[in-house]
Parts: sequence; structure tokens; C-alpha cells
Amino acid sequence: MKRYGTAIITTFALLSAILTGCGDKSNNDSIQPKPVNNSAVVYFSRVGNTDFADDVDVTTSASLNRENGELKGNAQLIAEWIADEVNTETVEIVTEEKYPENYDSTVDQAKNEQGDKARPKLKNSIDVKDLDTIWLVTPNWWYDLPMPVYTFFDEYDLSGKNIFVYVTHEGSGFSKIIDTIKDLEPDAQVVEVLSVKGGSVKDEEQKIRDKTKEMIK
Ligand SMILES: Cc1cc2nc3c(=O)[nH]c(=O)nc-3n(C[C@H](O)[C@H](O)[C@H](O)COP(=O)(O)O)c2cc1C
Repeated sequence: MKRYGTAIITTFALLSAILTGCGDKSNNDSIQPKPVNNSAVVYFSRVGNTDFADDVDVTTSASLNRENGELKGNAQLIAEWIADEVNTETVEIVTEEKYPENYDSTVDQAKNEQGDKARPKLKNSIDVKDLDTIWLVTPNWWYDLPMPVYTFFDEYDLSGKNIFVYVTHEGSGFSKIIDTIKDLEPDAQVVEVLSVKGGSVKDEEQKIRDKTKEMIK
């Protein structure tokens, strides 16, 4: 039973139901995604942006998974399944400064960053020039993108490219994430693909793979 952060997760679920009427927004603009030939899976996850103790107990958190001894976040698992289906690379969005190991402290910091419209500095870069498609996998942080993902969109002009969006969350679904990306990348084809509850990400592997296959049919 995963206990850690349960109160916060329940709060997200309840508030989301009130704010959104329980549903993800539909993205039915007349979007014409391009054929996918050259793509990369870009993801942000708490795990890759936090220094966890080697013996961190994954059973106490809904967003920590251990696979063959390696600690992985929910977004990372989804990103790896997409990359496997489309035969491409994953690229992680990594901030220069790590987030606190304590879940509640990260939640507080993320709230402050959102209030401050912060753009945390990123460590790595990706050559997007020849890509026609970015598969973006992101957690929902406070009903929106984590601020490091805002930094990513500030740094890259993805005009004319497909951005296929997968969100992992604990009850809020996409919230306003699709609208945010459309604001940040107004000349990209932004497509809402799938939202996956973090606590059940492993049960959704086949659905994620099937949905990804549909996108490249
Ligand atoms: C800072 C922070 C803010 C979060 N805000 C929300 C939220 O607003 N709504 C929600 O449903 N889940 C929220 N969550 C839960 C995460 O979206 C969820 O656990 C996700 O699966 C984590 O993915 P990751 O393991 O790749 O980081 C938040 C988690 C954190 C750490």
C-alpha cells in the first residue's frame, strides 16, 4: 500500500473534480498532425530531478517505481514504452538544481515556482531541428505543467512540429496543460493523447502502447 503523500494526492483528486467537473478537456480543434518520421520522446519526472537515498522505500510513494534495481518515475516508464513502440530515443528534462527528496517540500516548492512564473535552468539540451514530432510525457504539477517544462518550451521553437502529449497525475488529468502548451507553442500541432493515473501506471502499459501505435498508423 503506497501511503506517502496520500493526503496531498487525495486533495488533488478532490479539487480536480470540483475544478474540472471530473473530465479531461477535449482537444477537438482542427488539428492536422504530420506523419511521424523522425521523433524523440521528451519527458520530465520527479525521480530524475531528485537525489533519493539509495534505500528509498518505493512502497511509500505513488510516483516511485523500482525496475531491476533502478529507480524510475511514472513519466519515465511511460516515455520508455512510447520510445519502444516508435523505435526512438528518450530525452529527460533535467534541472540544474535538484528538487527536495521530501514529497511535501517538492509540492510546496513547485507551488512557489508556479506563483513566481519561474523558469528553472535546465542542464541538458536536445537537437530538435530535424524532428517532426515530440512525444511529451509530463506529470501534472498543480493543475499545469511543471515549471521546468515551461523552460523547455521557452528554449525550443517547435513551430510546425507535432507535440503528442501524455500526462501522468493523481486525479486532475490534463487540467490546463494542453492550453498551456498551445500558448507556448502556437504554431505546433498539439495533440492530447492520454492521461494516466500515476498510482496505476504499470496496469496501463498495454493501453499506453496501443494508443501510441494508433498515433503512428
Ligand atoms: C509538485 C507536485 C505537484 C503535483 N500536482 C498535482 C496536481 O495538481 N494534480 C494531480 O492530479 N497530481 C499532482 N501531482 C501528482 C503527480 O502528477 C503524479 O504523482 C505523477 O504520476 C508523478 O509523475 P512522476 O513520477 O513522473 O514525477 C503532483 C506531484 C508533485 C510532486
